[in-house]
Amino acid sequence: MKNKAKHLKNRIIFEACLEQVENHERYLKLKDYIQHGNTSVFEHSVRVAYYSIRTAELLGIMCSKEELIRGALLHDYFLYDWHDKDGEHRLHGFRHPYSALRNAESDFELSSREKNIILRHMFPLVPIPPSCLEGWIVCLVDKYCSLIETFYRSAG
Ligand SMILES: [Fe+2]
Ligand SMILES: [Fe+2]
Repeated sequence: MKNKAKHLKNRIIFEACLEQVENHERYLKLKDYIQHGNTSVFEHSVRVAYYSIRTAELLGIMCSKEELIRGALLHDYFLYDWHDKDGEHRLHGFRHPYSALRNAESDFELSSREKNIILRHMFPLVPIPPSCLEGWIVCLVDKYCSLIETFYRSAG
């Protein structure tokens, strides 16, 4: 398949996955929480999903695109303001993949690969690595996006 056709196909898959999660009212709550800088958790999650599929596309990585995108869209589905300094949100960096997975499982039907993407995206802070290629892509793209979002806050 030619590059343009591949890109178009991936774009259609991306839009369909985004629509699936946006149909859940609770997912839209991610717009109310800040992730880094001025970026909401919603914007961050959509960005990670978009760059994850673009990375797979540009590097010609054969993977499950729908699971890659859905896992990325749900990787930070923890639904609280992690900047709140109350005791419940202590150790956010270590704990939030578990909260995200719990919320995602209650709102969506997840494959084992999607669960792995969510649960292991904080490697190496949480020292168990992803066990699938899609998990590695999201893990790395998440760090890149987080750096950019934090840098733009500092620069702004
Ligand atoms: Fe995260
Ligand atoms: Fe993230």
